[in-house]
Amino acid sequence: MTKHFLVLGTGGTIAGSAGSAIRRDYRPGQIAIDDFLGSVAPLGLEARLSGRQIANMGSEDIGWPVWHKLHTAIVQAMKDPEFDAIIVTHGTDTAEETAFLLDRTLPSTKPVIIVGAMRAADAVGSDGLRNFANAMQVAGDRHAPGRGVMVVMNDFVHSARDVRKAHTSGTDAFRGFPRGPIAMVTPSSLEWFGEPWRRGEEARFAFPERLPEIAMLYAFAGMEPVLVEQAVATGAKGIVLAGFGTGNMPQTIRAALSEAAAAGLLVVRSTRVDEGLVDIEPDDAACGFVAARALNPQKSRILLQLLLADGIADPARAQQEFNRR
Ligand code: SIN
Repeated sequence: MTKHFLVLGTGGTIAGSAGSAIRRDYRPGQIAIDDFLGSVAPLGLEARLSGRQIANMGSEDIGWPVWHKLHTAIVQAMKDPEFDAIIVTHGTDTAEETAFLLDRTLPSTKPVIIVGAMRAADAVGSDGLRNFANAMQVAGDRHAPGRGVMVVMNDFVHSARDVRKAHTSGTDAFRGFPRGPIAMVTPSSLEWFGEPWRRGEEARFAFPERLPEIAMLYAFAGMEPVLVEQAVATGAKGIVLAGFGTGNMPQTIRAALSEAAAAGLLVVRSTRVDEGLVDIEPDDAACGFVAARALNPQKSRILLQLLLADGIADPARAQQEFNRR
């Protein structure tokens, strides 16, 4: 039977245009989802597509209001027997954050796929339609459910927890860490690298009514503790440090962050380095810190928001969620 996919448009470069095939200064979020699906139709791919515009913006402007709309639409589509899978077109800049937030707040029953492009729809060598055709191939596959939210880019499928944008402009901008891609895909083939690990699993967190304030601090040589003091003074409920190497920091920052943790803020040690674990260290318990493990600062921030919105402020309990796949 022909599969039916709900396609939720949010904008980004996949919906971007410059009005010329060679101009660099295109604008994201220009093409309405129904027009985009009109350009997919001639590819002759076997599936029914229904489009719905959630937003049409550059993903740098995405936040709670769009996430809430998106989440609500996906939950409805998951319950609706009409739809076999949900595809979200999205800007690549914050795709990893949207993917991770949805991954933690949706059941893992029907496939949910986020797809974007690095080149605008009217650019020479545009990758949007190719990525979208690949997303359709994943959406229709019987082995796709049970892998959480996935991101499809450049002939690879990544899991929401591992995926990150690692290049500013190349079509191969996305990487997975610590797990690399979970499948290779083309419009006519799909090869999974392992078994689903979240079959039939319920959402891990409720979608929050609001996202608590989290300060993000980027470590640098000569960093002064006043930055931590300012974050606390502005009312942040948690702090993510993009630390050095394995989540290291100057002694003065350690002292200031320990004080913040003692005052009840959840403090996460992540890293400004692109790959590698920030593992639990002997001092973490004494300082009241949580180790980000494989989560980069931007995903650590989302997890912290979900934990705090769920009333979890205990570092040991928070650590369990940072350890989870
Ligand atoms: C955006 O994230 O909306 C712009 C960049 C992109 O989609 O590649």
